[in-house]
Amino acid sequence: MKYFKGFAFTALWLMVLSFWSCETKVEDLADSRVVQSFNKDWRFVQDDPEGAEGARFSDSDWRMLDVPHDWSIEGEFNRDNPTARGGGYLPAGIGWYRKSFTLPKSAEGRKVWINFDGLMANSDVYINGHHLGHRPYGYVDITYELTEHLQFGKENVMAVRLDNSKQPASRWYTGAGIYRNVKLIVKEDTYVDNNGVFVTTPQVSEESAVVNVKTDVVNTGVASEVMVKSLVKNADGQLVLADSVSRQLEQNEKYTFDQSLQVESPRLWSLDSPEMYVNETEVWVNGEKKDHLSTPFGIRSFHFDAATGFHLNGENIRLKGVCLHHDGGAVGAAVPLAIWEERFKQLKEIGINAIRTAHNPFATEFLDLCDQMGFFVMNETFDTWRASKNNADHGYQHHFDDWWEEDTRAIVLRDRNHPSIFIISVGNEIRDNLNNEQGFETYKMQHNLIHRLDGTRPVTLALFRPNQAHVYQNGFAELMDVVGQNYRENELAQASIDNPDWKVMGTENGHTRQAFLVWRDNPSIAGHFLWTGIDYLGEADWPEVSHDYGLFDRAGFTKPRTWERMSWWSETPMVRIYRREHHLGQGGLVDDWTPTDFDTYDEAHLEIYTNADEVEVFHNGESLGTKKRPEDASPIRFRLTFQPGSIEAVARTNGEEVAVHELKTAKGPSQIVLSPTKTSLVNNWDDVSIVRVKLVDEEGILSPNLAKKLTFEVTGNGELVAVDNGARDSHESFVTNERRTARGQAIAIVRATADEGSFQVNVTGEGLTPASVEITIGQ
Ligand code: GAL
Repeated sequence: MKYFKGFAFTALWLMVLSFWSCETKVEDLADSRVVQSFNKDWRFVQDDPEGAEGARFSDSDWRMLDVPHDWSIEGEFNRDNPTARGGGYLPAGIGWYRKSFTLPKSAEGRKVWINFDGLMANSDVYINGHHLGHRPYGYVDITYELTEHLQFGKENVMAVRLDNSKQPASRWYTGAGIYRNVKLIVKEDTYVDNNGVFVTTPQVSEESAVVNVKTDVVNTGVASEVMVKSLVKNADGQLVLADSVSRQLEQNEKYTFDQSLQVESPRLWSLDSPEMYVNETEVWVNGEKKDHLSTPFGIRSFHFDAATGFHLNGENIRLKGVCLHHDGGAVGAAVPLAIWEERFKQLKEIGINAIRTAHNPFATEFLDLCDQMGFFVMNETFDTWRASKNNADHGYQHHFDDWWEEDTRAIVLRDRNHPSIFIISVGNEIRDNLNNEQGFETYKMQHNLIHRLDGTRPVTLALFRPNQAHVYQNGFAELMDVVGQNYRENELAQASIDNPDWKVMGTENGHTRQAFLVWRDNPSIAGHFLWTGIDYLGEADWPEVSHDYGLFDRAGFTKPRTWERMSWWSETPMVRIYRREHHLGQGGLVDDWTPTDFDTYDEAHLEIYTNADEVEVFHNGESLGTKKRPEDASPIRFRLTFQPGSIEAVARTNGEEVAVHELKTAKGPSQIVLSPTKTSLVNNWDDVSIVRVKLVDEEGILSPNLAKKLTFEVTGNGELVAVDNGARDSHESFVTNERRTARGQAIAIVRATADEGSFQVNVTGEGLTPASVEITIGQ
C-alpha cells in the first residue's frame, strides 16, 4: 500500500522514540531549547486528600506510575456508577497526581513551561504549592509557565488535581486522569512563543509553491537585533529552502516575523502520497543560537466547490469519512499510538479517507498520524455551547461562556500546521436556539476567532435538524463556510439543490443504503462522515457498555457493514458472504457456515457484498448460478438448502475473476491461532502489538459459536496491557489476563518492557491446544 511509506513511519516512530529516550534526565539542559517528556514516575491517588498541592505533602504511599494514564478504565463496570450510560458505567471521581523533579542550578535564568496535551478533567495544577491554573475542558492542551515558581538546584513538586466527580458529564466515555503526554519545555530569554510557528502554503502547483512562515518571537532579554532563520527540509532530510529575516526587538517585545519562500517542484501532500516537509526555525541574537524548533507541515491546496464538492491539489475527491470518539477500546482514553495506527490501516483498507474528531480535539500524535498516513480531518471543538444535552447534565454547557474563547484558541493554535486538517467544526448538534440574534452571534464569534487565528480552514457546524431549527431559511446557513448537517441526508441534498451556491457536507451520517445512495448520487455533497468508524465506550444502555455504531467493533473485528461499506467505498476488488443466522432468513447476519441450530436450519439466505460486476456462488463445488451486482447497491441475494461443507463466492469484473470468499463448516474448536499486528516492537509506551486470537478446528476453520475463557500470559521482556473481545455487553475487566471469546475471537494488547530481547505471548483455554507467539524487541 502506498500510504505505508517507509519514511513516514520511520519518522513517526523516531519522533516518538526521541521524545521518549530523553525521559528522566532533567539535568541535561545544554541546548537552547529542551523539550523533555514529563511522563515518567508520577504518584497517583484516587482520592482527594487535604493539602496534596503542597510541596511538603507526603505522597510516599501513593501508587507510582507513568502517564498517559486513565484510571477510569481500570475500574469495574457497575450499573450504579454515576457516569451512567454516557460513561459506559465506569467509575469517576477525584484523583491526584504528583511528581518531584529537579532542575540544575545552572538553569537559573532559563524560561520553563509545562505542557499537558489533555487533562481529564476540571484540572487544577500546582507547582510547589502555587496554583498555576484551573481548566474545565479535558480535551485541550494546557501550558503553564513555571519559571518564577521554580527552585533551581532543589526539588520541585508538580501536583495535579482532576475532578470528575460531577456526573454525568459527557454523552460518551471520557476517561479520567493525565491521559495524554506531558512535556517540560526549557528556553532562553529570546524564544519562539508556544505554538508560535504557523506555516501555510498560499499558492500551490505541481511546478512551485509559496510557503509562508509566521514566527512569533518574544524577547525578554535586552533590546537586540533578532534574526529568524527558516530552513525547509523535505522528507529525505534535504534542505530545499533557507531564508533569514532580522529586526530589532525591544525588551519584552513580541513580534511576528513573516517570510514567504518559494519551493520548486514541491512534493504535494495527498492521500496516497502524504509527503511531509519540516520547517526548522532558528532564532539568533548576536551570533548566538537562542532557540530552535521543528514544525512538520505539508504542501497542498484544497477548496470546496458548491457544485462538485471537495478538491485537493485540483483533484475532485469525495470525502468518505467516519466520526471517531477518542477512546481506544480496552485501553480507555490513554491510547498507545500503535492502536490508532492499526485502526487507521483497517479504515483505509475499506476505503475511508476522512476522520471527524467527534466531538472534541484529539491528541497531537493522533493528528500527526493522520498527516503521515494520509487522512483528511474535521477538527471539532465542542458538543455543546450553552444549551445542555441529555445524559450530560454536568457537561461543557456550564463552561462555554467562560472558556470557549481560550479553548478555541488553544485548539486552533496547537493544530493549525497539520496538513490533514481541512475544516474546523465549532459544534455538534448544538441545541442553542439558532433562530435568534444570540444564536447568530454565538456562531459568528467562534467563526471569526478561528478565521483570525487560521485564515486557511473553512468553518462549519454539524447542524441538528436544520429545517426544524429554521437555519436553512433564516440566513444562518449563509454564515457558514461549509454547511454541515447531521443525518436526514435527503434534506441536505434538497438544500443543496435549492441553494446552488452553498457548499455542503454531511457531518454525521447513518450506515444505511438510503444514506449511501444520497452520497453516491449527489456530487454537490462533498462527503459523508459515518457514525462511527469504530465502536466506542459509553452511549449505551446497561447491560451494554458500548453501542453497535461502528464499522468495526471495539477490538477491531469486522461486522457485516464493514464489508458492505468496502463494497461501496473501496476500489480494491472484494467479495464477502454473509448468511442470516437462522432458518428461512431469520436473525442477524453472520459470516460462517456453521449454524448453531443444525437440526432446524435448512434454508439458508445469503447476502453477498461485492464491488465486482457479478458473483457466482458454489455450494460444495456445485454452481448455484451467477448474479449481477444490483444498481441500487443492495447485496446480491441467494437462497439454498444448507448442507455442511463449503460455500464459495467468486466475483468477476469484465469476465475476469477478481475476488473469492469461501466459508466452511467448522467442527468443534481444538486449537488457538494467534496473529499479532506486529511481531517486532520497540520499548516505548506508544508501541504495542494487538494479538488477535481465534478458536479454530483441526483444519484451521474458525469455530464461531463458542464463548471460551482464555488465559493470557506474557513471559520475557514484555507485558500484557489489556484484553478484549469486542462484546458490547461484557462486564469483564480489560485490565486482567483472562477473557472469554466472542464469536470465537478475542485480542490481547502487549508491549515490550526492555530495550532488547523478546517476549512470548501464551494463550491457553480448557480443551484447547495452547498457542504461543514470539515478539522480538528492536531499536
Ligand atoms: C448523534 C450525535 C452523536 C451520537 C449519535 C448516536 O445525533 O451527534 O454524538 O450521539 O447521535 O446515534
